[in-house]
Amino acid sequence: MLTKEENELLTRVGPDTPAGELLRRYWHPVAIAQELTPEHPTKFVRVLGENLVLFRDKLGRVGLIGDRCSHRSASLCYGRVEERGISCAYHGWLFDTQGNILETPPERNEAIINSVKHLAYPVRKFVGMYWAYLGPEPAPLLPPYDLFTKPTGSRQLVVHPMLDCNWFQAMENSADPDHLQILHQEFLTRPGHEPVNSTRGFIDEVAATDFYTTDFGLMKKRTYKDGRVDEHPLIFPNMLRQGFGMQIRVPVDDTHTLHFQLFYTPGDDPIDASADLPVEWKEPYKLPPSALHPYARYTMDSVLAQDHAMWETQGPIADRSLEHLSYSDRGVALLRKVMQEQLDVVARGGDPMGLYRRPEGLIVDTNYEESVKAEGSAVPALITAEMHRIKVPAATADD
Ligand code: FES
Ligand SMILES: [Fe+2]
Repeated sequence: MLTKEENELLTRVGPDTPAGELLRRYWHPVAIAQELTPEHPTKFVRVLGENLVLFRDKLGRVGLIGDRCSHRSASLCYGRVEERGISCAYHGWLFDTQGNILETPPERNEAIINSVKHLAYPVRKFVGMYWAYLGPEPAPLLPPYDLFTKPTGSRQLVVHPMLDCNWFQAMENSADPDHLQILHQEFLTRPGHEPVNSTRGFIDEVAATDFYTTDFGLMKKRTYKDGRVDEHPLIFPNMLRQGFGMQIRVPVDDTHTLHFQLFYTPGDDPIDASADLPVEWKEPYKLPPSALHPYARYTMDSVLAQDHAMWETQGPIADRSLEHLSYSDRGVALLRKVMQEQLDVVARGGDPMGLYRRPEGLIVDTNYEESVKAEGSAVPALITAEMHRIKVPAATADD
């Protein structure tokens, strides 16, 4: 149980909040590369409580700038792009990708051009997405984790529906291994392998769960009674690697979260790091798609639909002053402790965990190959296939 103040500290992501400061130390994906096209060169982006516009000018340069025009606040989402940048639809003020004001029609106001800088953040294309950095310079490296950086094989992306709740609920779920055998029991069921009852699901197959911190976050570990083990690293602050997939939860604001998933398939083919990736956009996990509990009904027809239902029905921001943590919530408690420690590091001016500044080209090994091999025996191919709905590499099926 947390006090209301502790809950606020963990969950608020806007500028000038402690967790907002922490999250601004990391790059975050904000759009899929294919979302910017010559026909639609702008996209409204809300991230960490800030309203921004992503655009690509006619020279191919991509910018992420404040949504409200520095002139009189019209949205630059409706701006027209040209070679030099984006021109506000209202009176034509022209901005480049760095936020410099280049023109102020109808007159040329040198005083404004020389003194006003429009809000602009660095943006980079990486693993088929545009990533934004909203923190202090110098920016760290883009996240150099193995699934993102292995030079051969292939990658693809899944975009889940917008999650209408706070990002930390999804992350607490990533430190909560026991829900798999209960919440997702239908997807573990197969002929001859039935849940003992709906209350316990398959939980009696698990002998123990354990949690420990790593250089880049924390590990949740399951040991089954038959000796199988699986481990899924939570990559601080907002990613979860499960086998060959990486879930990324990006705080849009305090009560909304983008949810991307990247899949890596090993292979010998070289990967063109600048290429767009195949993308699957998931159908809504609830109807009506934009309603909140209790006015929405969740489909519960997939693992991720079940997860979204549990995360959202905890509330837009779960009130942790009402909870009753048990022994099986040790991972949740550890994540909160790690979060508090990292908030303290940032408050003292340090770099939080999982930031990398050198060398360029670094690949951080999350022990992906070993865990996929171990997981193959622990998580049935059914759940793997259902979650990913893509071709499952043979190594994860049943070896
Ligand atoms: S509001 Fe943008 S140019 Fe006037
Ligand atoms: Fe789950």
